[in-house]
Amino acid sequence: MKDFIYLDNGATSFPKPEEVYTYMDQYYRRLGVNPGRSGYDICMEAGEVVEDTRKTLTNFFNGTDPDRLCFSYNATDALNLIIFGILQEGDHAISTTIEHNSILRPLYHQKKYGGVEVDYIPFDSKGFVNPDDFPKKFKTNTKLVIVNHASNVIGTIQPIKEIGKYCQDHGILFAIDVSQSAGKIPIDMEEQNIDIIAFTGHKSLLGPTGIGGLYVREGIEIKHTRAGGTGVRSAVKTHLDEYPYRLEYGTLNTLGVAGLSAGLQWVLEQGLDNLHEHEMKLMSKLRDDLQDVEGVTLYVQDDLKDHISIFLFNVDGMEAMNTGTILDVDYNIACRTGLHCAPLVHDQIGTSEIHGAVRFGIGPFNTEEHIQTAVQAIKDIAEMQKKIRNPRNG
Ligand SMILES: Cc1ncc(COP(=O)(O)O)c(C=O)c1O
Repeated sequence: MKDFIYLDNGATSFPKPEEVYTYMDQYYRRLGVNPGRSGYDICMEAGEVVEDTRKTLTNFFNGTDPDRLCFSYNATDALNLIIFGILQEGDHAISTTIEHNSILRPLYHQKKYGGVEVDYIPFDSKGFVNPDDFPKKFKTNTKLVIVNHASNVIGTIQPIKEIGKYCQDHGILFAIDVSQSAGKIPIDMEEQNIDIIAFTGHKSLLGPTGIGGLYVREGIEIKHTRAGGTGVRSAVKTHLDEYPYRLEYGTLNTLGVAGLSAGLQWVLEQGLDNLHEHEMKLMSKLRDDLQDVEGVTLYVQDDLKDHISIFLFNVDGMEAMNTGTILDVDYNIACRTGLHCAPLVHDQIGTSEIHGAVRFGIGPFNTEEHIQTAVQAIKDIAEMQKKIRNPRNG
């Protein structure tokens, strides 16, 4: 059996740093109580872990008030809180065709059932939206612009600072989805003119699944779309208005918060630049070694500037799913195939009709040997496919 090679870090990072496993185990054994509910010692200590993590994440995004950092279950949950908590009947929203379904579907729901209008800005042939396209779509009722920072399909990093500036100048809220970018490239609320950030803990922040959150700039009030226990002021009949309780409902995933804090700590110790450089070096190697191989098509990878380490390709004449199966069964390489929860991206790059493409998501624990093996595997599959198509050449 060949060694297992995990190239599905776009779906979730795996493995996690050893420190994450160790800390989660220690935390849950020693402090696995329900913080914010009582005043005994370990309850207070568990609460400190949660509050310290809010602080670290707030600093990480260059926010100013840790209370404005609310935990959720993942980015999808956070994006639902944002989209349903901001947009009301008669409002207009702008998004892009680079989005994941965690934005597309809530927006579609709001359009279909909530009387909200939505416009989508397409990306260009290099995979970037043009910031100048946004103000052209602004209307008097435009309330929210919501954009994916880095694509989970083609890896391009969007010009959010420039989009944010247009929004700021026109008094329109600007929210970004940093599911793929947080832990890979810097994110700065102030510098990049961002109002709201939605993040997930289990990808490049290297935490476990089931934890995510959002940071909401001061002055922005997202309305409640749920209500319930917070552990605070139990006699009040309605859900609390103040942050972070405003957007937190019920017992937090404290084990997830602890794991996320350890993951983020590891990322900070390694340094974002070092991690990104390592991954992009492997990404460049993949691209360079495969770009001239007959029978292999790469998508949107001519220029790797402003990219994260997401690599998209197809072996010509093969369904992506079949390529993925061969990579798995014959080469022990794990990857993701299909539409990657982002159907509009595939519509635009022309891969919808062929049921999508194959995605490698490179992570911090991938090595040059992994990439060499993957390159050889893809070359073998392309060669095999060529022989099937032209048996006489074999
Ligand atoms: C760009 C993007 N946004 C949102 C999500 C949703 O993340 P989660 O499944 O953690 O909610 C993903 C996950 O693949 C993603 O890649």
